[in-house]
Amino acid sequence: MSLLELQDVRIGRGAETFVRGVSFALEPGGVVGIVGESGSGKTLTCRAALGILPEGFTVDGRIELDGRDLAGLGPREWTALRGSTISAVFQDPASYLNPSLTIGSQIAEVIQVKLNTKRRIARVRAVELLDAVRLRNPATVAGQYPHELSGGMLQRALIATAIAAEPKILIADEATTALDVTVQAEILALLASLRAETGLALVVVSHDLAVVAQLCEEVLVMRAGEVVEQGPVEQVLHAPRHEYTRLLIDEHESYGLEKYLVSS
Ligand SMILES: Nc1ncnc2c1ncn2[C@@H]1O[C@H](COP(=O)(O)OP(=O)(O)O)[C@@H](O)[C@H]1O
Ligand SMILES: [Mg+2]
Repeated sequence: MSLLELQDVRIGRGAETFVRGVSFALEPGGVVGIVGESGSGKTLTCRAALGILPEGFTVDGRIELDGRDLAGLGPREWTALRGSTISAVFQDPASYLNPSLTIGSQIAEVIQVKLNTKRRIARVRAVELLDAVRLRNPATVAGQYPHELSGGMLQRALIATAIAAEPKILIADEATTALDVTVQAEILALLASLRAETGLALVVVSHDLAVVAQLCEEVLVMRAGEVVEQGPVEQVLHAPRHEYTRLLIDEHESYGLEKYLVSS
């Protein structure tokens, strides 16, 4: 059974439609990528799966999370699922962390609330998580405030927070977009190793095909709210069927998408 399955999903508000006809299935430990230019509907698709669509937005079609149909879930049921079954990290990690609390206490808070763990144990676990996301001196970082960390460190801390309640799925929506190229590569490597070590399934979303190509097995190419192409990443990259996919590939000609391709 798939962990997350979208069938012919449409997202709209009143008579307006922003996303239509999105279908994919994410298997346990799998990786699905969504690529497309800004405004193509990637984030709305993620928000639908997380139950955090903007006010007035509705979903048609079917979304199943870990065997549960998400239609008609109440706020309390959503709160129970978010964090512990499906979790997410977005661009701009600073805005998702409380500036007046230490990193360690924010992670410990998630563990206490979601896993019903005692504070002392949650504190210890928070440091373990900071170590798991490859932050050097995790005990020191746990005592620091968000403004004391670099962008790359903040994104690692946010990933630690997102996986603190041991979700099965992590959505990374433009999670590396604000970072410089070296740090971006490190974060992508971290996501790959979390997947390998813990079986965490990933949805990787980016406007940058290279980011998606690096991590994913299946890729959806979105344009103006529709999926224009979908398939195994090698197929989409080596034999794109849609002109728009070719455009996304051409953007990388200058420095070479080839290095990201999995040659089989
Ligand atoms: N909060 C919102 N209010 C109104 N329209 C929105 C909102 N979020 C997204 N949209 C509309 O949906 C389209 C797709 O947005 P989004 O999913 O954020 O695109 P992407 O993540 O691919 O850049 C946008 O172009 C916009 O028209
Ligand atoms: Mg977006």
